[in-house]
Amino acid sequence: MKSIIKINNKINTFKNKIEVSGDKSISIRCVLLASQALGISKIYNLLESEDVLNALRSIKKLGIKYKKNKNFYQIHGLGLNGFNTDKKIDLDAGNSGTLARLILGLLVNSKNLITLTGDRSLSNRDFSRITEPLKVFGANIISKNKKLPVKILGSDYLRPIKYIENLGSAQCKSAVMLAALKTPGITKIKARKSRDHTELIFNSLNIPTKIIKKKKYDYIEVEGQYNFKSFEYKVPGDISSCSFFLVLTLLSRDSELLIRNVNVNSTRTGIITILNKMKSKIIVKNKKKYKGEIIADIFVKSRKNFSKINCPKKLNSFAIDEFLVIFLVAAKAKGVSTFNDLGELNKKESPRLNIAINFLRMIGIKVMRYQNSIKIFGNPNLNLSESYTIKNFKKDHRVVMMSCIAALTFGGSWKIHDAQSVNTSFPNFFKLIRELGAKIN
Ligand code: S3P
Repeated sequence: MKSIIKINNKINTFKNKIEVSGDKSISIRCVLLASQALGISKIYNLLESEDVLNALRSIKKLGIKYKKNKNFYQIHGLGLNGFNTDKKIDLDAGNSGTLARLILGLLVNSKNLITLTGDRSLSNRDFSRITEPLKVFGANIISKNKKLPVKILGSDYLRPIKYIENLGSAQCKSAVMLAALKTPGITKIKARKSRDHTELIFNSLNIPTKIIKKKKYDYIEVEGQYNFKSFEYKVPGDISSCSFFLVLTLLSRDSELLIRNVNVNSTRTGIITILNKMKSKIIVKNKKKYKGEIIADIFVKSRKNFSKINCPKKLNSFAIDEFLVIFLVAAKAKGVSTFNDLGELNKKESPRLNIAINFLRMIGIKVMRYQNSIKIFGNPNLNLSESYTIKNFKKDHRVVMMSCIAALTFGGSWKIHDAQSVNTSFPNFFKLIRELGAKIN
């Protein structure tokens, strides 16, 4: 794929059906949990993006074999003590915060020093949010300036911890749950609401886990050292990938799209709630339950008018990866939309809140910022005709995809750098968008 792409035309009207690729969060969790199971697990529809491939490469370095078959991956788990950590090993998590943080949870019992590195973007992100609780389990961890590389040497004397997760970070919650798996006794977690895929997979594997859901926090208890058997999993479509197509359709003229087999777990559907509050009328149908997740088809139609929103803070972590595209709809809405307390957005693959503000201002949208809250002054007549260049955003895959959607719906002449970074989460992005008629050079 070319690293610089050009878009000079809006997309024409389309009426179509698509499927987006497998969910990234669930794919990474499946790979890591299969590596801890006893026996051969089969994972269907595994997302074959760089983040997930890095998860496979990492477990392989730790002595776990896997094989790619026609439509599933086989992973040969060797149980909770199956990682071969007798020697020093370097692991590279690439761009993936989820992989880096979750795998650290599994390394609290490593026998030798493991060094975890990542690409430039990941090396700028905070790791103290996860190394601090893992130290309390008893793992020995060194990291300079709270960043990668992180060196971890596990302990034979792990003890269960009590942990309060206050950021609404599923990565932190999940890393602690994975460390709890390795630890004798009961680890107790009080976690601000966030995506709950790890809890659901634990339940489906019968790992002794108690979950009490209260209004703001979930209370989770994991009893450690339960050896679970290998499993089969069919990964559903990723709503984060789907979000680009939702907004593309909404902002295009007279278009319709049915997106099949998407995971609509309520901890992930913040984008649908938010867009529907802005008068989008996105319909979720044919819901089915699968291992605690809800899979459905999503139908979306173009809209001419969007209303402003005062986005409820409680939706932030349920839409955390989707705000970039949600802001595009706010840019086209009638009135001033408000989004509060989005500091976590600046902790992602790039400082997404800063980037979004610069982006919106670049296309002529007024944005006011107070600390980590922003007001977007929508312009229902937004129609671009100038030239725009997108670069220097730490090769953030979601910034590339959001920029493409803006180019295809608002018009103008666009040059977008580092387009290959979509491979991080959504290698099929350009193929699908071209199938809908987008002209991309
Ligand atoms: C993820 C959790 C979120 C999200 C990330 C994937 C996960 O990060 O932004 O893309 O799979 O647990 P935080 O938990 O750090 O908010």
